[in-house]
Amino acid sequence: MEGRWQHTTVLLNEAVEALVTKPDGTYIDATFGRGGHSRLILSTLEPQGRLVAFDKDPEAVAVANAIADTDTRFEIRHEGFAALHDLEARSVTGVLMDLGVSSPQIDNPARGFSFRSDGPLDMRMDPTRGTSAADWLATAPVEQMAEVIRDYGEERFAVQIAKAIAARRQERGPLASTSELAQLVAGAVRTREPGQDPATRTFQALRIFINAELEELQQALEASLDVLQPQGRLAVISFHSLEDRIVKQFIAKHSREVFDRRAPFAVPKAMKLRALGRIKPSQAEVDGNPRSRSAILRVAERTAES
Ligand SMILES: C[S@@+](CC[C@H](N)C(=O)[O-])C[C@H]1O[C@@H](n2cnc3c(N)ncnc32)[C@H](O)[C@@H]1O
Repeated sequence: MEGRWQHTTVLLNEAVEALVTKPDGTYIDATFGRGGHSRLILSTLEPQGRLVAFDKDPEAVAVANAIADTDTRFEIRHEGFAALHDLEARSVTGVLMDLGVSSPQIDNPARGFSFRSDGPLDMRMDPTRGTSAADWLATAPVEQMAEVIRDYGEERFAVQIAKAIAARRQERGPLASTSELAQLVAGAVRTREPGQDPATRTFQALRIFINAELEELQQALEASLDVLQPQGRLAVISFHSLEDRIVKQFIAKHSREVFDRRAPFAVPKAMKLRALGRIKPSQAEVDGNPRSRSAILRVAERTAES
């Protein structure tokens, strides 16, 4: 089965160049996927260098386990990247996060992420844990469904969609497949956005919620501050505005000296990060891989202070 669905790595050279500053350092690839970034990182490291990768998805972990490298240089962990905080403080030279789902997750109908093909309504990055989208939608109160679809999908018709899901549940039992949900959403969304399937926003919202994507991102960013060495790099690729806002605000918040209003004459606490920039894919990359079009890479460096 593996190999049927491929992932084209986004901002491959840009991200690895921004991340790797010392060839004998220790690096984290927090989102292994199919290992595009990991392989390039390993190829730039010297024998003393080290890469620890994370992924929630057992299929990604299986691909990582097949990487031929020494155990001392490469390790894969089947965990959410919020587990970064388990690493030793100041032990890491660079943390990379390439957020969201991989193409194999979207393209394989059995994973239930896509409204384009029919499959079980699952949407878990790690199907061995947690609650599937179908199970959540089978019992969630209308207000909660509307809140998730509105906040994570920025969907104007969130209330109408949530009510339609509840009505359908009562009349014919819970939704079980991606195409049932896509059809129901298409019936509840009154105005269409040009070039976009009416189910796009609802599917994005449910995926973010079911995988606790934004909470884990916030936790992993905080953890990266503890584990990064001075001058260590944080490089994060995001694919939609909700993610990018969190990354941008996090870097901005820690790139300022913290002034304590209750102690106006105290020396302000030093900043922890220095923003190094924002990179978008070239037109050539977008032409070759349309899924890269919304990507934004933000890079920051851990300061020597605090
Ligand atoms: C965009 S893909 C990464 C692709 C990878 N950079 C490559 O070149 O092949 C994102 C991957 O991150 C994983 N992922 C997303 N959120 C995660 C989290 N909170 N913890 C661990 N893995 C996560 C997904 O399962 C997916 O495999």
